[in-house]
Amino acid sequence: VNGKVPEDLLQVSDLSPQTMTEVLDLAAAMKQQPLGWDEDLRGGAIGCFFDKPSTRTRVSLATAAHRLGMIAITLNPDEMQLGHGETAADTARVLSSYLDAITVRTFDHAAVEQMADAATIPVVNALTNTHHPCQSLADLLALREHFGTLKGMVAAFLGDGTSNTCNSFLAACAANGMHLTIASPAAYAADPLSLARARELMAQTGGSVMVTTEPVDAVRTAQAIYAEVWVPMDKPHEREERAASLAPYRVDDVLLTHAPRDAVALHCLPAVRGEEITSQVLDGPRSLAWRQAANRLPTAQAVLHTLITTNRQKTPGQRT
Ligand code: CP
Repeated sequence: VNGKVPEDLLQVSDLSPQTMTEVLDLAAAMKQQPLGWDEDLRGGAIGCFFDKPSTRTRVSLATAAHRLGMIAITLNPDEMQLGHGETAADTARVLSSYLDAITVRTFDHAAVEQMADAATIPVVNALTNTHHPCQSLADLLALREHFGTLKGMVAAFLGDGTSNTCNSFLAACAANGMHLTIASPAAYAADPLSLARARELMAQTGGSVMVTTEPVDAVRTAQAIYAEVWVPMDKPHEREERAASLAPYRVDDVLLTHAPRDAVALHCLPAVRGEEITSQVLDGPRSLAWRQAANRLPTAQAVLHTLITTNRQKTPGQRT
């Protein structure tokens, strides 16, 4: 990777458009040839700190580490001093002397930023309430494989515009000159600051973003239509209200009749079948969801390899 490599991957915008493309190129190569990339990292270790459940992120990161010659150590909050009063900063500082990277899934994005500030090894955001960069890289790889190119692609995101997946997908579209329409009820409209930042980058990359409350308008020209769960893991108490408000944004066969015939459906999984997406769409020929999920592994492998090998070359003290 020749582009500037960040110390950490906390959000999509940590990667410049050039670096993102190069990480995707590396992921594509690793998907073709998963083994043989362990020369630099053999004997290393990553820590996997997960404050929330995970299937794809946890297993793809651990498998990626194994393929790179490293072990992945599960850091269970209940079994660590972190859960019993030790600060995140002290934990990150100590872990930096054992590990080559820390992957963190937690609630507040500030918590992962604090860890990154204290760590002297790369920290990879495995999902926070506002960002999910690892997912976006897998999404981009799936779209690039399917359509051949990302620049100029037209995409729609339906549902909760405040979600971490939407936020990160927006930044991913911006970096790649894509055209995104986000269709959400007003109560779940995308964050204005994220939209402003995306538009700033899109002025350079040639992309665009629009917001609407009309799902049919959003899908009319969309080549890819993204559905996302309506109820985040930490908001089960909002289920009734969210389900009522987001029901018109369900991705089903009826909605797809308004989209181009070759439009694909995206979903980061896990899905609540019958809510944000129907089984007919998710399991149907237009679904890219399973490819998105499969691509979590090579993209995780590319992210870990790039961040660890690049930052290892720096002398201590060059990292904050
Ligand atoms: N898409 C995703 O992040 O899946 P997990 O919650 O299973 O990791």
